[in-house]
Amino acid sequence: MKLWGGRFQKSTDKLTDDFNSSIHFDKRLYRQDIFGSIAHVKMLACQGIIPAEDSALIQKTLREILSDIEDGKVEFDVAAEDIHMNIEQVLIERIGDTGKKLHTGRSRNDQVALDMRMYLKEEVISIKNMVIDLQRTLLDLAKQHTRTIMPSYTHLQKAQPITFAHHLMAYVEMFKRDKERLEDTYKRVNVLPLGSGALAATTYNLDRDFVARELGFDAISLNSLDAVSDRDFCIELLSNLSTIMMHLSRFSEEIIFWCSHEFQFIELDDAFSTGSSIMPQKKNPDIAELVRGKTGRVYGSLMALLTTMKALPLAYNKDMQEDKEPVFDAIDNAKMCLPIFTDMIRTIRVNETRMHEGAKGGFTNATDLADYLVKKGIAFRDAHEIVGKVVFSCIQKGIGLEDMTLEEYKQASPLVEEDVFKAISLEECVNKRSIVGGPSEETVKKAIEINEALL
Ligand code: ARG
Repeated sequence: MKLWGGRFQKSTDKLTDDFNSSIHFDKRLYRQDIFGSIAHVKMLACQGIIPAEDSALIQKTLREILSDIEDGKVEFDVAAEDIHMNIEQVLIERIGDTGKKLHTGRSRNDQVALDMRMYLKEEVISIKNMVIDLQRTLLDLAKQHTRTIMPSYTHLQKAQPITFAHHLMAYVEMFKRDKERLEDTYKRVNVLPLGSGALAATTYNLDRDFVARELGFDAISLNSLDAVSDRDFCIELLSNLSTIMMHLSRFSEEIIFWCSHEFQFIELDDAFSTGSSIMPQKKNPDIAELVRGKTGRVYGSLMALLTTMKALPLAYNKDMQEDKEPVFDAIDNAKMCLPIFTDMIRTIRVNETRMHEGAKGGFTNATDLADYLVKKGIAFRDAHEIVGKVVFSCIQKGIGLEDMTLEEYKQASPLVEEDVFKAISLEECVNKRSIVGGPSEETVKKAIEINEALL
């Protein structure tokens, strides 16, 4: 017999039970559901809505059910549909009529919204801590490489020399924004929907503030229709996770080519790479590739929920049961990716020589040569033209800008003097960029300090 069976003449078809049921995925909300019910039933007694001894018995039994679920002693029933009715059904099996008082002044619609918010509050904090761990690892690595010169790229073509620390710190900034976004989302998750009932609240004199305090919510929702039909907070989290994954995926892409034979900028630790079943020489960056791959899947979850919610009339619709799998899957995958990615980064070996060689080729100091000419009084656009011609002739001779003789430079522009060689040295190119945001050793050290203080 269904908890809602009164108005029905027939039992549901087996297909209906299977199709309608969400227990195989929402059972993960059992803890939130039970603690939510305990707070609710405690309040019902405080308000004199049910007798204190009934409330006490329900609370005690709910705690027993909690520990039985944790010990694997509770078998969930597909016919009871979801985690909410499964727990209520077990409660009624155990204490009979008293258990039937739990659902007073409550609907599964405000209950499921509550459970999701409680669950997301925990998960947001745990993901935020993982992001912080990654930031710490990046900061530690950056500290060791404020003088490790490497090329930077636009269009994956060599651009200007920077340091490895500067490159890593770019990711620290991205993950800082990710952390801030999680903190911001947390504020909107942290609102109690319970008391909204099915959609039009309730006639009982519920003490919503009491329940909010019991469950650690900072605020209570102000519109019952909105509170039961809002899944913005899930969409926000999925969007945050998508952005985190996008950042991890860009980083992964760089890891993948940095450890290729062509680059050899880094080597992954054996513990965080894999071999080939046929080619004995291979050492593959599977972790970075899987992180890159899983990014698509997390985006998919965001799209799935946005699409589910699109055009749903107020208030609750069963479509919304489809929120759980994408949210859970995205959380699970982000939580798998972050720690392994962090460990992979923590254990990389950096090939400073290869990075330096990389920065030397490809005329990465050409901008600095143009800037040098500007300082000697030439307009930038003319300096650009002159250096472009010099680069062209160097390419034909197969040499770099630093290999030109002073005489050759004087032919390009009579204003060039001996000090040109210092001006276009890689160290100078990097350390002259000491403006805030730049790659100079001092600037990056300061950025590291600021970011460390923020953690
Ligand atoms: N299992 C449902 C969900 O996840 C719970 C809410 C059901 N409410 C209802 N009126 N059918 O959305």
